[in-house]
Amino acid sequence: MDTQQDYSGPQRVFSGMQPTGALHLGNYLGALTKFVDLQNTHECLFCIVDLHAVTVFQDPKQLANQTREIAAAYLAAGVDPAKAIIYPQSQVAAHTELAWFFNCVARVGWLSRMTQFKDKAGKNSERVSVGLYAYPVLQAADILAFKATHVPVGEDQKQHLELSRDIAQKFNNDFGVPGFFPLPEPLIQGPGARIMSLRDGTKKMSKSDPSDNSRINLTDDVETIAKKFRKARTDAGMVPEMIDELAGRPEVKNLVGIYAALSGLKDQQVLDQFAGQGFGVFKPALADLAVEKLRPISTRLNEYLANPDEVDKVLASGAERAAKISTPIMAEVRKVMGFWGT
Ligand code: AMP
Ligand code: TRP
Repeated sequence: MDTQQDYSGPQRVFSGMQPTGALHLGNYLGALTKFVDLQNTHECLFCIVDLHAVTVFQDPKQLANQTREIAAAYLAAGVDPAKAIIYPQSQVAAHTELAWFFNCVARVGWLSRMTQFKDKAGKNSERVSVGLYAYPVLQAADILAFKATHVPVGEDQKQHLELSRDIAQKFNNDFGVPGFFPLPEPLIQGPGARIMSLRDGTKKMSKSDPSDNSRINLTDDVETIAKKFRKARTDAGMVPEMIDELAGRPEVKNLVGIYAALSGLKDQQVLDQFAGQGFGVFKPALADLAVEKLRPISTRLNEYLANPDEVDKVLASGAERAAKISTPIMAEVRKVMGFWGT
């Protein structure tokens, strides 16, 4: 089936990250490295999704700085503002406007099935914000306000992307405009799509894990990175010879996966290199590799953080460029829906 369903507009990449804390190795391998590759082949928008962040309370004294920090991480990882558009979501009105229209297209039943909401709300589901419930609708609006066709994300975003496709399709059907919105495709493949916690190989590496030892932050110094890998949970065995021997050993599988993602090798090639060795050998090798890859990023990150004016310029000009793309699209959307004045 033609997944684009008659869509014939240009290819465009959109992705975003929430300004809710320091980025970690999972964000880097799952998303950021893909941003850097895609900017060379596609028109790209990389947003800092501050409107998503405020679905849970954010300290007004911190929010702007948190937004700068994510922008600085994009830049430090190699996103180039001469190629890609970097901007804060709250500066472009199309996000909130289209989110409202999509609130009226998406069905309550669709949102009730979202596993990320269930995880985040837990037993508190009556007391969390309406915004947290509608979060994936805003995400669909982010993407479709630019008619973006491709969305690089980690595996945890798969369900949200399916919802974006459902919303796009229902909009096109309801208003009789086949191919008006593209059905955005997630770009999830690749070795870093699901990096797990260093303390528990069954949980994803996450900003919100209370244990800082569970994750490698992009801002961690050399000693901290080495210490966290040294302390990473493994088992009493050795690095095995074959991939199927990783079954039932989630922590070992994760460390091998991280090594592969950082080095560009395949999992099997990593095993070939370390098979039969104990973790006393493998973990320091992994720490050295991580330091080699991350140190230049954290150095640049600190330079950008020391120069907030430079980051602010990137954000302001990015917001202008983004609005130039979304403004005519939103005019079309209002017309399709038949609002007065269109
Ligand atoms: P967030 O930190 O939730 O705003 O996520 C930003 C991006 O990083 C999204 O594309 C996520 O899918 C991705 N991501 C977050 N955690 C991980 C992880 N543990 N492994 C791979 N990708 C991740
Ligand atoms: N929900 C995403 C996350 O937590 C962030 C996000 C918001 C996003 N809007 C987006 C990702 C649009 C891709 C496209 O990681």
